[in-house]
Amino acid sequence: MMREAVSDSNPTSSPPPQALLERLKDYGQEDVFALWDELSSEERDILVKDIESLDLSRIDRIIRCSFNSQGVPAAAIEPVPESIVSTVEERTMEDRERWWKMGMKAVSEGKLAVLLLSGGQGTRLGSSDPKGCLNIGLPSGKSLFQLQAERILCVQRLASQSINEGSKTVLPIHWYIMTSPFTDEVTRKYFESHKYFGLEADQVTFFQQGTIPCVSREGRFIMETPYRVAKSPDGNGGVYSALKFSRLLEDMATRGIKYIDCYGVDNALVRVADPTFLGYFIDKGVSAAAKVVRKAYPQEKVGVFVRRGKGGPLSVVEYSELDPSLSSAINQQTGRLRFCWSNVCLHMFTLDFLNQVANGLEKDSIYHLAEKKIPSAHGHTSGYKLEQFIFDAFPYAPSTALFEVLREEEFAPVKNANGSNFDTPDSARLLLLRLHARWVVAAGGFLTHSVPLYATGVEVSPLCSYAGENLESICRGRTFHAPCEISF
Ligand code: UTP
Repeated sequence: MMREAVSDSNPTSSPPPQALLERLKDYGQEDVFALWDELSSEERDILVKDIESLDLSRIDRIIRCSFNSQGVPAAAIEPVPESIVSTVEERTMEDRERWWKMGMKAVSEGKLAVLLLSGGQGTRLGSSDPKGCLNIGLPSGKSLFQLQAERILCVQRLASQSINEGSKTVLPIHWYIMTSPFTDEVTRKYFESHKYFGLEADQVTFFQQGTIPCVSREGRFIMETPYRVAKSPDGNGGVYSALKFSRLLEDMATRGIKYIDCYGVDNALVRVADPTFLGYFIDKGVSAAAKVVRKAYPQEKVGVFVRRGKGGPLSVVEYSELDPSLSSAINQQTGRLRFCWSNVCLHMFTLDFLNQVANGLEKDSIYHLAEKKIPSAHGHTSGYKLEQFIFDAFPYAPSTALFEVLREEEFAPVKNANGSNFDTPDSARLLLLRLHARWVVAAGGFLTHSVPLYATGVEVSPLCSYAGENLESICRGRTFHAPCEISF
């Protein structure tokens, strides 16, 4: 086999370290030394260190449990009870105002932290940069990270205005950002070079999620190179153990944080630190909640919230797991699909619950097996990435609630590169521009445009408005030529 050596120093004839080889044999993974004789001494050192860094017994347990759970019939599913869902149509203006105020109070008391899931590899997007650095082509050129940072700044400002007319400053909202080994360094540098987008550097904490070896269909480690095991991030549900191992749950407790708003980086419309959602969450007194959107059509490829078993816990099933007859079944009372509440990775948790999950989920050795092409020493090979998902925590929650939001207001996913059919930077940009155009018109502004309005719009800086509020003084009677950014 032709390959580039790390160094040309002569390999000695010494065999692999015996003790390590024996341990690998215990778990049937001794093939990682298959090319030992061809490695230089530096490469051998790298390989030995790589293997020594793995918790072999834990990984073996995860591989066995995850493979054994395949094909085991899951408990029958039931629709989510109506009583735990707040739908858009049933919400009154009073509810919304009350929740907004409750949320703002909690924010101003420093009880809310924001937790960003920004790990993974973003393979579908096809860029080596972290997804959050992506400029989706807005008039301002802002990246997803910048939009999110400015929304946090906006909520902080509104919270400080809500108490004592802004004369007292509120504690900054702490932002915990989970990266992966693939996104960590670039993310930190990006924030540094952009001066944290106006946030205080010490209100942002980065931490890394774990990785786990990729395995073949037989459960054997795949080698990325002859001297390194192929590893991938352990899924966005890796956040629970990563928080625990980074001691950040204690950090949150020390700061007086009680509630954690947790979301995925790849949503251009995400309402970070949403006071209304927080107020709803506090009002319901639950341990875990999720914002959901209504499934657009029965075959839509989204995971939906269900109950596992009769009266069982809240859980998410992937579209592939849902029988077609169930996905198109209608609830005769509501007229909606029986399984209609789509998961869009927008969650709220109590800190107590995160502590409970970090201990419980860690012991749970069943990971999801994602079949992927894994880059390996032999070209791309079919294998599995092992992942936990953020929603794997829901079955542990003593009490849960769902909060319906409108897609066009809060969900603009960025998953695929431009040119794909859906969830691209272009589609997300348009969703944002159209929403903000509606805000501007509702605030008494006018729009002119030289391209069709459906293909453009205006961008409202999050520093001016969080969700369309406070725009009258800027917009009333003014005409804006789309596309443009509206800022102070
Ligand atoms: P995706 O499931 O879209 O995964 O992530 P991904 O790695 O970003 O992209 P693909 O599947 O390789 O194309 C949903 C959210 O979960 C985070 C992502 O950053 C995104 O915010 N995530 C995903 C993690 O934090 N860690 C992971 O291991 C996977």
